[in-house]
Parts: sequence; structure tokens; C-alpha cells
Amino acid sequence: MSNPSSAKSPSPTRHYRPETRLVHSGTLRSQFGETSEGLFLTQGYVYDSAEQCAARFKGEDPGYIYSRYSNPTIAMFEQRMIELEGAEACRSTATGMAAVTTAILAPLRAGDHVVASKALFGSCLYVVQDLLPRYGITSTLVDGADLDQWQRAMRPNTKTLFLESPTNPTLDVYDIGAIAEIAHAGKARLIVDNVFATPIWQSPLALGADVVVYSATKHIDGQGRCLGGVILASNDFISEHIHNFMRQTGPSLSPFNAWVLLKGLETLGVRVRQQTQTAAAVANALAKHPKISRLVFPGREDHPQAATVKKQMRAGSTLVAFEVKGGRPAAFRTLNALKVARISNNLGDAKSLVTHPTTTTHQRLTEAARAELGITEGLIRFSAGLEHQDDLIEDLYAALEQA
Ligand SMILES: Cc1ncc(COP(=O)(O)O)c(C=O)c1O
Repeated sequence: MSNPSSAKSPSPTRHYRPETRLVHSGTLRSQFGETSEGLFLTQGYVYDSAEQCAARFKGEDPGYIYSRYSNPTIAMFEQRMIELEGAEACRSTATGMAAVTTAILAPLRAGDHVVASKALFGSCLYVVQDLLPRYGITSTLVDGADLDQWQRAMRPNTKTLFLESPTNPTLDVYDIGAIAEIAHAGKARLIVDNVFATPIWQSPLALGADVVVYSATKHIDGQGRCLGGVILASNDFISEHIHNFMRQTGPSLSPFNAWVLLKGLETLGVRVRQQTQTAAAVANALAKHPKISRLVFPGREDHPQAATVKKQMRAGSTLVAFEVKGGRPAAFRTLNALKVARISNNLGDAKSLVTHPTTTTHQRLTEAARAELGITEGLIRFSAGLEHQDDLIEDLYAALEQA
């Protein structure tokens, strides 16, 4: 069994293709030669001597100290994410929101300024709009698709730009490379929430972003079992801003959840590919449905930012957004009539899930803010699962009869 310092030596799996890295990267085998990664369900560690314990606390003896700081199962998960994303370093967190909050807040000081796109998951918007001002950090929200707005929002004290792409729930796609250039010209960093793209279809670090965050709760687990989050960046960013903040404030991932997420990564590529194919089939089947007034799927030629999708994503998404004619009553009748896809606020699961963003994930927003983002009363977010695509399409068609 290796210790934490092993993560710094060259990895024997890094040169493999993503599918192979998803299965093998980061594995640390104990003396028992287990096939599946060991679950080190331990809070702490014991030492051979008081001298060794003292040396470990001084950083002179490599090894684990306490699972709030690091743990072998968590280290395996983090190393697999590092190799999947092509990052230098990673810290994992208890939830996606812990990852977002830590990545945004930890490097900032009172007097700093943040620019973020308006189209953010409700809790991320809370962090930027409600939480940061309490600590003297101001922000400007922009239309993420409008590069001029990003540029004009920059100030001498702007330290962080933040966006998600594709966005939740309207699946808009923003030009990560161009926004990273704006950030770097102003000596700021770009943080990308890559949840909707997944590491399979989009690599923000390779496009120029500085930090990537995930809710591992979504596709990485992908089977509705546990919450988790990930922050990926350079060694400098993680060691300067994240490592100590996490060590002292404690938003750490549990070893059990890290183990579940390692198992999730093994099947991530297969699941995301299949779910994306199913989402495309659902999008194509619904696009001309007479009861649907708008449909968005990254990967279709009629996507509002189709050129950007082609430029920066390897494929579309496991999600489809569509608007049912007749507003909330029609959307609710559709949701209530579905038998295969289930009503939920979650996404990226093996089970197809449908969400009414206006009354759930984005209910915090004012009506005007929702209208500006295209989050209408009739909008439904469909997250494709692993069911047969024809069962899903027949289910949706039957439910739309009730709309
Ligand atoms: C885009 C996006 N970012 C972050 C999160 C937060 O993740 P978690 O629920 O794991 O805290 C979510 C969903 O909940 C999300 O959809």
C-alpha cells in the first residue's frame, strides 16, 4: 500500500486512453492484492512511535494523519479524477456545492470582485449573490453567451470568473476558451462547473480554464447513491488556496462515498455515451411534436450556440430541455403522466429523471430573472437514463397526450 506522497510520482496509467484510466488510474493495492479498490473506512491512523507521529505532523514522514485531510480510498478517487481530467491536482468534497463554495470562496479576500454568468444552478447563484457580499466580495452577473459583457464586467480587482456550460436547465453553451482569455488578460482565474458536460465530453482545463468543479453526485456516481464533489486545478492553486482551507474547515468527502464514486467512474464512459445517444434520440423524436414550443439539445444543428458546441465539446449531453405549450398546468400534467421517467430534481442518473426547474432548482429566482434566462413555466428538463430509448419516447409521447 502506498502513502499520500505516491500521488506525486509519475503515474503508470496516465498515458492510457480515458476508458482505461477510468478503470485503473489511482488504484493503490494493499498486501492482499484485492481486485476492487480497498475501502479504508477509518477516521484516523496509528503510528509506530511517538517520533514517527511527530515527524508525520511536521511533514517529514509521508503517510496519513486524519481522514479530514486525506485517506487512501479518497486518494485513489482523487488520482483517478486527476488522470481523467488531465489536471495536476484534485481535492474531493462532501457535495458538489462544497466543491463550488470552496473553489470560489477559499482564494478570495474582502475587496475582491467576481464575474459570473447569470445562468447558474440556484445554489451556485446563492453563493455568488448572497454569500460573497457578506464577506465584502462583490460580483457582476453577465449573459454568459455575450463575450462583450464578460469583458465589460472586468475590474482591476476581479479575481474570479465563474460559469457552468452547458447551463442548468436551458443547456446554453458558453465559449470557455474565449472567456478564459478575458480572465487571464485581467489576471483573473476562470472556474468552470462542468457537471452538465461531464469529463467524458468536455475538458475545460484543456480549453484554458484554471479550475474545474463537479458535483460527483450526478454522472460520476450516476446511480442515485451518494453525494460528492471535486475540485481540479494546478498544483499551485490546490496547495495555495484549497488544501489548507479544506483541512481546517472540513468539507471533506467520506471514504465510503469515495469508494462508491470510484466504482461509478469505472462505468462512467459507458453510461454517459449510452445516455447521450438516448438523449439525442429523445430530442429528435420530440423536436417536431405539436405540443412542444421549444427544444434544446447540444448536438443538434438548431442549438443556439451550435458552433461553440462543435468547437469545445466532444459530443452533446445526457440532457434535453423542452417547453410544453400551455405553461405550468400542461407541464405538470405531462410530468404526472410519465411512467418510466420519474419526477426528481436530480440528473445524470441511470434512471431517467424529469424536472420542472421553475418550481424546484430555480424557484429562488425572481420571475423576471427566470424569464431572462428562458426558464419558462412550461420548461421541462429531461435527464436520459439507461432505459431503452423507445420506452422513454413512448412514455413521453403518451404523457404529452395529457398536456
Ligand atoms: C450545475 C450544478 N452544480 C452544482 C450542483 C451541486 O451539487 P450537489 O447537489 O452535489 O451539492 C448541482 C446540483 O445539485 C448542479 O446541477
